[in-house]
Formats: sequence, C-alpha cells, structure tokens
Amino acid sequence: MVRELKITPIKNGTVIDHIGNGLALEVLRIIGIKELDKDSTVSIALHVRSGKIGWKDMVKVENMELSPRKVNAIALLAPTATISIIRDYRVQEKRSVDLPERIFGIVKCPNPSCISNQSEPVESQFHVLRRGPVVLSCAYCERQVDEFLKHLA
Ligand SMILES: Nc1ncnc2c1ncn2[C@@H]1O[C@H](COP(=O)(O)OP(=O)(O)OP(=O)(O)O)[C@@H](O)[C@H]1O
Ligand SMILES: [Mg+2]
Ligand SMILES: [Zn+2]
Repeated sequence: MVRELKITPIKNGTVIDHIGNGLALEVLRIIGIKELDKDSTVSIALHVRSGKIGWKDMVKVENMELSPRKVNAIALLAPTATISIIRDYRVQEKRSVDLPERIFGIVKCPNPSCISNQSEPVESQFHVLRRGPVVLSCAYCERQVDEFLKHLA
C-alpha cells in the first residue's frame, strides 16, 4: 500500500476529513481559530485527492474537540465530512457528520422582524426543509435560508 503523508501527524486533537473541495476555510470559520489554545497547530490541506469524493479538503486541529453545535454547523456546510478524534497519535473515534432535523442557534434568521431577532431574542430554530442542497426554514417565520455562511449566528 502506498501511504502519502500530506500533513504532520498530531498527538491529540481532531481531524475533519472528506470536506468538500474548497470548503475548508469555511469549516475553519465555524471552528473559530481565535478560540484555540495558543500552543496548538492547525493544519489545512486544500485540494487533496480522495478516492471517495474526487477532491477534498482537510483540517487538523491539535488539542481541541468540537462542540455538538459546531459539528452540526459543519454538517450544514460540509455534509460529506468525517470527524476523527486523535488520542496519542491514534484514531480513537471516527464518525460522519449528520445533519439533524432541526438546527438550533447556529444560523441567524435573515428576517429582521422575526421573533428570533428581537431585543430579547429567542434562540433561532430551523427545520431542515431539503437535504442536498440543504434548505432551511425558520421555525418561527418560515423564512427560507440556503446560504448559511452569510447567516451564521
Ligand atoms: N496521528 C494523526 N494525526 C493526524 N491525522 C491523523 C492521525 N491519525 C489518523 N489521522 C487522520 O484521521 C482520519 C481517520 O484516520 P483513519 O486511519 O481511520 O483514516 P483512513 O484509513 O484514511 O480512512 P478514511 O479516509 O476512510 O476515513 C484520516 O483523515 C487520517 O488522515
Ligand atoms: Mg483516508
Ligand atoms: Zn425567522
């Protein structure tokens, strides 16, 4: 078997692999690099060959695990992604992201008069109306959203 090493292995952290081509920087935005600890390395590989999905992006972050909310946001943007937890250089756990039926709090409703945008806002809530390409519908005002990046809360 030919093994190709595109990124230095990490001891502990999270690997987000099989990200659709060109979406790594958006995934990085969801992770929020400002929240990382200062001694952690973040490696990004763009346009890597993948047997499964043709071309893919990858993000590897040392010393960090993703909150369920961030995993849901990644599922919205990069539904083919897999998330692996690395402990002591080994894959401890690997799973695919999974888009839930409802999305709480990740996306902001674009309708300014929506109840989720008032001075004492209630947390945003969307139903997944369609999958691939994903379309969300606000649970409060039914406004539809298909461009999530513009509306990340
Ligand atoms: N120590 C490590 N440091 C950084 N990344 C790692 C490390 N060990 C595994 N990975 C990455 O974690 C992911 C899962 O590892 P695994 O060995 O299960 O992958 P794989 O055999 O390439 O399978 P697949 O591509 O189907 O997920 C891969 O993206 C791999 O590159
Ligand atoms: Mg692989
Ligand atoms: Zn709304």
